[in-house]
Amino acid sequence: MMDRVSLGDITLSRLVYGMWRLGDDDNTAPAHVQAKIEACLAQGITSFDQADIYGGYTAEAILGAALRAAPQLRGQMEIVTKCDIVAPVGRHAGARVKHYDTSAAHITASVEASLRDMAIEVIDLLLIHRPDPLMDHFETGAALDALVASGKVRSVGVSNFRPWDMRLLQSAMKARLATNQIELSLLAHEGFTNGDVAYHQEHGQPIMAWSPLAGGQLLAQSDAGLRGRLAELGAEFGVDWSAVAVAWLLRHPARIIPVMGTNSLPRIAQISDALKVDMDRQTWFELYSLALGREVA
Ligand SMILES: NC(=O)c1ccc[n+]([C@@H]2O[C@H](COP(=O)([O-])OP(=O)(O)OC[C@H]3O[C@@H](n4cnc5c(N)ncnc54)[C@H](OP(=O)(O)O)[C@@H]3O)[C@@H](O)[C@H]2O)c1
Repeated sequence: MMDRVSLGDITLSRLVYGMWRLGDDDNTAPAHVQAKIEACLAQGITSFDQADIYGGYTAEAILGAALRAAPQLRGQMEIVTKCDIVAPVGRHAGARVKHYDTSAAHITASVEASLRDMAIEVIDLLLIHRPDPLMDHFETGAALDALVASGKVRSVGVSNFRPWDMRLLQSAMKARLATNQIELSLLAHEGFTNGDVAYHQEHGQPIMAWSPLAGGQLLAQSDAGLRGRLAELGAEFGVDWSAVAVAWLLRHPARIIPVMGTNSLPRIAQISDALKVDMDRQTWFELYSLALGREVA
């Protein structure tokens, strides 16, 4: 049974499957999406990450087609989705410029579209996708509270927020912001030292980590360096190099929840291998030093 993380009103599986790239797969048929979901569920990965904008506002409907074809899946899943990015494509083709919109009207309309597209009745966790410099925290906070009160959303959180953005929004809300989904990986480790991770630890908020393999960029590392060492450690632990890179995040005491993005069924089936890697302190620092390109001071 996979470890689970409490976010207050909901719990997520320790590893989450992300659906940003769902529409990039050659096969988006409901049966194939169902196979991906079932490969996750078989490992105890019950939490799935979406956003209205994924696939140019199409990825939620791809998931929805699979949930309509296999309605028994929904009850076994927690569905996370996001809103506030407005790009001039798909249903927002009329926008003149890409922008963020945290107005009550936009958030509410976005939630209705997400519920319809995914063919679900409630969103388990709704995140504000990116901090909006024009956010009126009273309006946005009240809109999020109203969505929770209406039962359309079980819990709310943010993504890519800095501590001050989060404090501002929280100050105008009744519901507690459950999490912040930020970029964290061996190639994006600033959060460990710039106060972001510390802020959430202080407030007991689990962090979701997007692109834990740096969106595949970890592969581009030279074999002699980080990538080579990850492969060696993978051989030692009997797992793929990518499981070691994810274990590097899991080793952190903040209880980081990596959001994995592979479209490959064999790789999906191995996501939980990361939990088999028991990484000691010196190995963590060895990988950190390779990522920094120097030993720590
Ligand atoms: N909140 C935000 O702003 C935000 C931003 C970005 C992403 N996200 C979330 O985070 C999720 C994960 O992001 P991500 O897709 O960038 O995550 P990732 O897991 O870091 O990268 C996935 C990419 O790496 C490749 N890959 C994985 N394992 C590999 C291996 N062993 N060998 C070669 N290539 C490999 C995958 O290709 P294959 O498909 O071929 O395996 C895929 O292209 C997204 O789905 C989304 O839910 C959130």
